Amino acid sequence: MDKLHVQGNKNLNGNVVISGSKNAALPILFMTILTEEKVEISNVPNLTDINIALKLLIYLGVKIKYKKILYIDASSINIFYAPYHLIKKIRASIWILGPLLARFGKAKIFLPGGCKIGSRPVDLHLNGLIQLGAKINLKNNCINASVKGRLQGKYILMEKISVGATITIMSAATLAQGSTVIDNAAREPEIVDIAKFLNTIGANIIGAGSNKICIQGVSKLTGGAHRVIPDRIETGTFLVGAAASQGHIICHKTEPKHLQSVLIKLTEAGAKIKTGNDWIKLDMRGKRPKSLNICTSPYPGFPTDMQAQFALLNTISDGIGTITETIFENRFVYISELINMGAKIKIKNNTIICYGIPKLISSNVFCSDLRASATLILAGCIAVGLTIVNHTHHLIRGYESFPNKLNKLGADIKII
Ligand code: EPZ
Repeated sequence: MDKLHVQGNKNLNGNVVISGSKNAALPILFMTILTEEKVEISNVPNLTDINIALKLLIYLGVKIKYKKILYIDASSINIFYAPYHLIKKIRASIWILGPLLARFGKAKIFLPGGCKIGSRPVDLHLNGLIQLGAKINLKNNCINASVKGRLQGKYILMEKISVGATITIMSAATLAQGSTVIDNAAREPEIVDIAKFLNTIGANIIGAGSNKICIQGVSKLTGGAHRVIPDRIETGTFLVGAAASQGHIICHKTEPKHLQSVLIKLTEAGAKIKTGNDWIKLDMRGKRPKSLNICTSPYPGFPTDMQAQFALLNTISDGIGTITETIFENRFVYISELINMGAKIKIKNNTIICYGIPKLISSNVFCSDLRASATLILAGCIAVGLTIVNHTHHLIRGYESFPNKLNKLGADIKII
């Protein structure tokens, strides 16, 4: 899928079932490298990034069966090097490093790929592993890591909050000698889910979800089963789509607790929100959203992965709204595409100022990353006329059946 025709002037109404979280499932798949016993992972979304992660695991020698549930057996890993053509495709491949090092004492991987939303360095991952006793050298974009015997537990103060690096250090520390403390740790729900999975297979982690995670190393891990949490960013994306189109929607099989900051902002925009233990209802019928001022920040702050979606909401809102991006240095590439659709937006350093207009106009737009793809498709749903959305291959990296789910809500999207 690389091009979509999106009919405009739609209201998005109805029910949508949320898929498993991409950003929890990806690291959890790589964490299975840590144990030689069988594990079962359910609620894994069907995404290209997931398929690449599975290909990487199989390349290392992991046995995988899929029957609605992923049955994974990493007992016979016999390769400790991951090939460039797979590593380069996803940012998540960095999470091979910690587990291979912790269990086998060696690992060799290329620097990972991922959405072009910034330089995406991995220095915090590597510094963390070095503090745990690893020897790491970086040559021609290839990371060569090794440790004699076991990694050694340590107190590690993160100089910057990093989801990825917190996951790398937490995973490696599960098999280290002694205890590790990760201070100034990231607090995302995905990290809590990963810690829950690791504890299910015998790890000893407390404090995940707080800014201080303590890991007591164990000599080996066991087997077990785990169900991945729902995707909070997919949920937020559908909620914004309904709000921007003045519709009403119920998101099922989701977790309202994971997106409080998003619900607060949607309520501020004028949406009526109701929540249950696994559903969220949003009603924006007959109401034009009010402009919002947003600043992205690490969880539980406003998620950077919802920045583009709320920029769309602001473009058709009543008033002037601002969005400041503090996590990534190049996450406004999609703004030029919204301006092509008539949006009135100014970029000042890491802030965008949106002057709300009543309607966007259809256009021929180009996606640059995963969240921008979803945003431009939603823009097409509410614009006047037929919008052609190009380069939608980014979309299937992180949204399961997005066009079909939107069509069930009243959109009219054709895959070309
Ligand atoms: C994860 O990326 C997510 N990706 C991102 O989602 C998400 O936007 C991000 O966390 C923040 O929540 C996955 O989970 C696969 P970080 P990650 O390490 O781990 C800098 C999506 O759309 N940094 O928290 O790469 C980094 O450049 C994706 O689903 C270093 O400087 O994010 C950024 O400015 C996009 N050195 C900041 O820290 C490092 O070693 C936060 O990055 C690592 C990160």
